[in-house]
Amino acid sequence: MSTGPVKVLFAAREQDWDPYREVLARALAENGVAADLSRDHPPGEVDWIVYAPGGPVADFSPFTRAKGVLSLWAGVERIVGNPTLTMPLTRMADEGLRQGMVEWVAGHALRHHLGIDRHILHQDGVWRHEAPKLARDRPVTVLGLGELGLACALALAGLGFPVTGWSRRPTAEPRLARTLSGAGGLPEALRDAEIVLLLLPLTAGTENLMDAERLALPARGFVLLNPGRGALIDDAALLAALDSGQVGHATLDVFRQEPLPPDHPFWGHPGVTVTPHIAAETRADTASRVIAENVRRGEAGEPLLYLVDRGAGY
Ligand code: NDP
Ligand code: OXD
Repeated sequence: MSTGPVKVLFAAREQDWDPYREVLARALAENGVAADLSRDHPPGEVDWIVYAPGGPVADFSPFTRAKGVLSLWAGVERIVGNPTLTMPLTRMADEGLRQGMVEWVAGHALRHHLGIDRHILHQDGVWRHEAPKLARDRPVTVLGLGELGLACALALAGLGFPVTGWSRRPTAEPRLARTLSGAGGLPEALRDAEIVLLLLPLTAGTENLMDAERLALPARGFVLLNPGRGALIDDAALLAALDSGQVGHATLDVFRQEPLPPDHPFWGHPGVTVTPHIAAETRADTASRVIAENVRRGEAGEPLLYLVDRGAGY
């Protein structure tokens, strides 16, 4: 039985501490948790670990009484396979991430849908009266219908795009044009899409999913938006598909190596837009509420929110 305040170790990156220290301490208090939040608890005394990649903890074995690791990131591919992690792992899902992702996706989808670049590049006195087609005539496919993928799929459907969604397990979502699932449903999901959005986690089942064969399935000149993870795409196949015209444009927020090395061919490629992993940022205010609620739940013996399925890898 524990005595005294619940010891919460903040094991994210150093630069995360300032935005979180007060906000998270307040969220814990508001959630009725008497907590001692610190970056320096001795491992053997820690009850809960708030984690982010790039933080100080890679070996969880000294945390002998920790009841869970609470990730500030939605994607957990860098921790899920850690053999020293024997306690439950939760990932981040919150309103800040969802809203940020919806805004990034809607902005980049509409940029291409409306042909905005064409007008920006040609302010040359020539009256090019080429009206874009309506969203209802531009099929969009969203791979991944989780917290972020579904929110984006619904936002795009709300703008009028006929949206096909694809997930691992079958799901019924009447607000989308159709939903497909599993490896067998992927070719049909991709076929003839004009915009393809990747919001899948990186797992053994999704790595290099967009290879030469899959990139050939959507409509010629399609737009690829990837705010999921870099390794979902075979980079060499993407560059070949851009050069052949099969991919009209790729807007990429995530990469196999981040920061993207300065000499990477994606930089400066006319068919590629690079954004620096900013599609959806975990915000301290909304994320702290999720962390605090999970500590409360854990201490009360209630099920944790957003528990990672270690077998599935997300
Ligand atoms: P979720 O875990 O909520 O959803 C994942 C979705 O992917 C689910 O619909 C799941 O299917 C589907 N999926 C997983 N594996 C497969 C597979 N093998 N085949 C088909 N579908 C699969 O994740 P989120 O929506 O919260 O986040 C998605 C990803 O977005 C994160 O993992 C992260 O990599 C990335 N991300 C990027 C950010 C950025 O700033 N660029 C910010 C935050 C996240 P099912 O529904 O059947 O389980
Ligand atoms: C995340 C991310 O996974 O920022 O949260 O990519």
